[in-house]
Amino acid sequence: MPSRISPTTRKKISKRPGRFLTLGLDVTGWRCLVVGGGRIGARKAMTLMEHGAKVVVCSPRIEPGLRKAVQEQKLVWKQGEYNRARLRGVRLVVAATHDAALNLRISEDAEARGIPCCVVSAKRQTRVLFTATHTRDDVTIAVHSQGRSPRRSAEVRDRIARWLSADVESSAAHIDDVTSSGRCKATCGKVYIIGAGPGAADLVTVRGLQAIRRADLVIYDRILGRDFTEQLGLDSKYSQVEWLGAGRMGPARQSDINHRMLAAAVSGRTVARVKNGDPFVFGRGTEEIEFLHKHGVPCEIIPGVSSALGVLSGAGYAVTARERGRSVVITSAQLAGGAFNDQYPKADSVIVLMAIGMLGKVVDRLLADGWSPDTPTVIIERGTQAGEREVAGRLRQINVQAKEHDIESPAILAVGTVAARKYVSGGPTGRRSAVGREEVLNSRVTRQHLRMLEELD
Ligand SMILES: C[S@@+](CC[C@H](N)C(=O)[O-])C[C@H]1O[C@@H](n2cnc3c(N)ncnc32)[C@H](O)[C@@H]1O
Repeated sequence: MPSRISPTTRKKISKRPGRFLTLGLDVTGWRCLVVGGGRIGARKAMTLMEHGAKVVVCSPRIEPGLRKAVQEQKLVWKQGEYNRARLRGVRLVVAATHDAALNLRISEDAEARGIPCCVVSAKRQTRVLFTATHTRDDVTIAVHSQGRSPRRSAEVRDRIARWLSADVESSAAHIDDVTSSGRCKATCGKVYIIGAGPGAADLVTVRGLQAIRRADLVIYDRILGRDFTEQLGLDSKYSQVEWLGAGRMGPARQSDINHRMLAAAVSGRTVARVKNGDPFVFGRGTEEIEFLHKHGVPCEIIPGVSSALGVLSGAGYAVTARERGRSVVITSAQLAGGAFNDQYPKADSVIVLMAIGMLGKVVDRLLADGWSPDTPTVIIERGTQAGEREVAGRLRQINVQAKEHDIESPAILAVGTVAARKYVSGGPTGRRSAVGREEVLNSRVTRQHLRMLEELD
């Protein structure tokens, strides 16, 4: 038998500010008993019915609204007075008669049988309360006042509902504002342009992660991998998450992204535009921010670990070292529109992004510029990510090696002192890519590389 609660304990409990635990309950198929067919009983019965419960109303008389539901066989009416036998097989009870003493008796009977009971006339005795709800799309707002004032709960619910619909309307108005005036107005949201690092989720900065968690819309680059936001523990129930999966980032695509960010911002949403590496290192971050500024959208840049440096450090290559390399050039093999870049300024090391597909041309250019064919060179594919691979050798042979090993984009080419020595044999020995790292270390490529480095030393 469930233990009874003494009146003194009940009194104490009923004064506790957070007495009611607010839960969502799936009552589909539950047999629920509503005792009392008046206005309140009818309302509770209809609510339970709308949520899929099998409702039995026990009462000598019922409201006309309920009568219709009975005729349509949506609920069952047991005409007559309450008796305990009615509780058989019941999972939830509502005591809603006009007789407060009877309601209490029903509640005690239910309590004795372990059935939760909502007592409409006695807030101290009730175990269950119905919340004032409002549902919009897939979100439900539930308001209650710890049983103190259902009217106040309904008022607050209505206020929230009005605020929500005004918000949506004003968003629509804002889009009109932007299209007519070209600028976002006062209640505009904000766009965070976030550098997420080369791809390992744990290389996102704390500031970046905080902004991503706050965002209503997260748009992230393909290079980061589809499961990137999952690895960050982002719950897509709370924010809309878009992965820029297939396809090249052509002008139409970039413009589509820009407009998606703008549309979200004008409707007052916070956007996290999560970009590979650092947004301002060959990342088109400048174009995105210029577009948003033009439309008056507030933006914030959150720097990230650029693959140009982070991929190399992560793999144990020092971009500069006191005695061996004091200058570095970071460039891209491709110019805007995909044309070949043939300018590689001289430095102790040259790091080339987007070189796969034009590797032969880059190597020829560097050799023509006077780099020795024996210059140490390394290519790292998918740096810091699961499945990271590297190919190392001399400049003259790197293109052939890359082909032999089917090196694919994204990959970094590093030429010069940076590639002359590998300081550690792997990244952090953490959970991240231990398997990938082992593969790399055991691969023929890496063994060859280590031999070559020994020779150089
Ligand atoms: C469009 S650029 C973006 C660079 C980015 N903003 C940054 O700071 O790293 C893309 C190029 O970065 C390089 N890249 C990005 N992530 C990489 C990774 N995890 N491993 C190797 N190269 C990477 C590749 O050269 C790739 O083609």
